[in-house]
Amino acid sequence: MSDGGVPEGSDRFSLRDWRQDSAKQKIKRLIGAVLVRLFPRRAAMLRENSFTHHGRRLSLLNRMIGAGIGYGALQAGDYETLGEYHRNFWGGQHAKAYHDDAPERFESVFLRYYTPLIDELERCLATRGGVPTLCEIGSGAGLMMDYLARRFKAVKRLIGVDLDAVTTAAARQAFPDPRMEFVAADALDYIEQNGQPDWVFLTQNGVLEYFPPDALDRFFRLVAGLAPAAVALIEPVARNHDLATRTESTPYGQEFGFSHNYPHRLAQHGFQVLYQHEERVFGMRTLMILATIDPGAEA
Ligand SMILES: C[S@@+](CC[C@H](N)C(=O)[O-])C[C@H]1O[C@@H](n2cnc3c(N)ncnc32)[C@H](O)[C@@H]1O
Repeated sequence: MSDGGVPEGSDRFSLRDWRQDSAKQKIKRLIGAVLVRLFPRRAAMLRENSFTHHGRRLSLLNRMIGAGIGYGALQAGDYETLGEYHRNFWGGQHAKAYHDDAPERFESVFLRYYTPLIDELERCLATRGGVPTLCEIGSGAGLMMDYLARRFKAVKRLIGVDLDAVTTAAARQAFPDPRMEFVAADALDYIEQNGQPDWVFLTQNGVLEYFPPDALDRFFRLVAGLAPAAVALIEPVARNHDLATRTESTPYGQEFGFSHNYPHRLAQHGFQVLYQHEERVFGMRTLMILATIDPGAEA
C-alpha cells in the first residue's frame, strides 16, 4: 500500500501506457470501444460535457463509455482532442458539482499540504521587491484567491480566471473585495490579451494537468513573453512518471489528464526553478513549483 492507502499496483494515478495495460484494463478498453459504437448519442453527450470526470457521479455504463472515449483518443495519440474533452467538462454544466465541494477540499488539502509554496512565494517577492499582480488560473470557487488576498495585503490586484461561468459568478459574489477580479474565460486567451509584466501566475490542485502539451507550452511561452514574471504551480504528476528521464507529457489516471514534466518544460522556456517539492496527497503525487523568468531569458 502507498502512504495514501492506494495499492502501489493501482492504475488510478499511473501513466496511461495502453501497450502495457493489465488484463483488466484491456477488457475495460475493449468493452468501452464496443459501447462507444453501440451508444453513439450517449458517447457524443459524454464528449460534450462529462467524459470520465468524477466517475462516482456517473453510471457504470457512462463510465465504461467514457473509458472507451479516452482510450480511443489515447491510442490515436490525439492529445488535442483529450484536451478539448477536458475543456468541455470544465466549461460545462457538471463542473459546478465539483466546485461545490471546494470548501472541504480547501481545508483538508490546500491548508494542510500546500501552504509551504505560498511561504516560498512570499520570500521570493520580498527579495525581488515591487508589488506584483497575482493571477490564479483555474480559480474555481475562489478560496485560494481569498487566502492570497488576506495574506498579501500590499497586492492591489488579484485576478482569478476559470472556464466555469457559473462558479466564477458565485466566487465574485462571495468575495466582493475590490482588489479581486473573477473572470470567466479560457486562461490562455485571457493572458494573451491582458497579461502584463510582473504578474505571478498560480495554479492549485490540478489545472495545467488538463492542458494538452501544446497548450502547456503556449502557457509558458506567454508568461515568458511577460518577463519578469513568476509561476507558482500545484500540479499532480503520475505515480510512475520518472521526471529524470521521461521528458514528454503523457495522459495518466482515470481522468486521462496529463502528467507533464514541469521542471523540464520550465527550463526549456528559460525559467529558473527556485523551489520544488513533492507531496503525496491522498495517494496522488503532487508537485509544488516556484519558478521565475527575467527579461531576455526566454527560449
Ligand atoms: C481540478 S479543478 C481545480 C479548481 C481549483 N483550483 C480548486 O482547487 O478548487 C481545475 C480547474 O481548472 C480550470 N481550467 C481548466 N482549464 C482551464 C483553462 N483553459 N482556462 C481557465 N481555467 C481552466 C477548470 O475550470 C477548473 O476550475
